[in-house]
Amino acid sequence: MVEKINQIEKETLDELSKVKSLDALEEIRVKVMGKKGSMTEILKSMKDLSVEEKKEVGKVANIAKTKISEAIDAKKEELENQGGSDKFFDYTYTLPEKVGTYHPITKVQQEIEEIFQGMGFMVDYGNEVVTEFENFTSVNVPEDHPARDMQDTFWLDNGELLRTQTSAQQVNVMKKYGAPFKAIVPGRTFRNEKVDASHENTFFQLEGMLVDEKVSVANLIYFMRELLSKVLDEKDLEVRLRPGFFPFVEPGFELDMKCKLCGGKGCRTCKNSGWIEMLPCGMIHPNVLKAGGIDTEKYSGFAFGLGLTRLAMMKYGIKEIREMNSMDIRKLGQIR
Ligand code: DAH
Repeated sequence: MVEKINQIEKETLDELSKVKSLDALEEIRVKVMGKKGSMTEILKSMKDLSVEEKKEVGKVANIAKTKISEAIDAKKEELENQGGSDKFFDYTYTLPEKVGTYHPITKVQQEIEEIFQGMGFMVDYGNEVVTEFENFTSVNVPEDHPARDMQDTFWLDNGELLRTQTSAQQVNVMKKYGAPFKAIVPGRTFRNEKVDASHENTFFQLEGMLVDEKVSVANLIYFMRELLSKVLDEKDLEVRLRPGFFPFVEPGFELDMKCKLCGGKGCRTCKNSGWIEMLPCGMIHPNVLKAGGIDTEKYSGFAFGLGLTRLAMMKYGIKEIREMNSMDIRKLGQIR
C-alpha cells in the first residue's frame, strides 16, 4: 500500500509539472483527491488494516496528500497569474482595431469647447426640454409677439417645448454663475420644419455669452474672429458686421466671413457677394441681463448663436444637410 501511495504521489507530481491550464489542473485534482480520486480510495481502504499498519501507512499517506495539495495550489497560483485558462486562448481576435468614429458635428463641437475653455469659458449644456419662459420670455420675446412664430416649435402636452434655440439657456447661465462670467452652451435644438435637402428639424447650435464691465462690440468681434480662424484654420480671417434683428440683443448683428473659396471676388458658394454669413450675434439686451439678475449699470455683455451643423458642413465640405444624419460610418471615418 505504501508503494501504491508513493507511486500515485510520483505520477501526480509529474503530471502537475506539465499542466498548462486551470481546467486540466482541476481534472488532475479530481482524479487524485476528489471523492472517488485515487488517493481518496486508498485512504478509504485503510480501514481494513491493523492498528500498526494504519499508523505506518497513515503517515506516508498524509505526507503524500500534503505534497500533492501544495503542488496543486502552487500550480494554480502560477496559472492564474498567467491568465492561463484554455478558454482564454480560444478567443479569436477578428474585430477591427477601430470600430467607431466621431460625427463631424461632435468633432466641431469638441474643438470649439476646447478653444473656449482655453479662453476661460464655462461649458454648460442646459436641457433640451425647456419652458416657454426659458425659450421665449426670458430672452425678451414678449407674449403674443410674432417672434414666437418665427420659429415653429414642437410643443409638448404639458406646455413645455423642445428648445428652438440654445438662447433658452442664457438666463439660466446668468443666474447660475452671476456677473462677470463667460460661458458657452452647445447642444441640440429643434424646429418644426418640413424636412428636405436643406432643412432638418433637429440641428445643433452653440450659444456664447460674455458678461463683464465695459464689454464692447470690439470685444465681440475679437472673440468671433478668434473662434472662426481657429476652427477653420485661417490665419488672417476677415469678418464684417451687418445689422440684424434678434429680440435678445441690441444692437444685433449678422457676422460675415470673407469667402475663402474666391478670396472675396465672388463665387457660387458666396452667391457672388464675396462674404459668407457665419453667425448672428450682438450686445445682450438689458432686459435679458435683468432677467438673469445682472446689474445693468455695472455690466454689459455680448452673445452669439453659432450654427454647428452648418459650420461642420463648411469645415468638412459636406454639401447636403441630410448627409449629416444619414452618413455612413466609413465616410464619417474618412473626414479629417
Ligand atoms: N437664437 C438665435 C437663433 O436661433 C441665434 C442667435 C442670434 C443667438 C443672436 C444669439 C444672438 O445669442 O446674439 O436664430
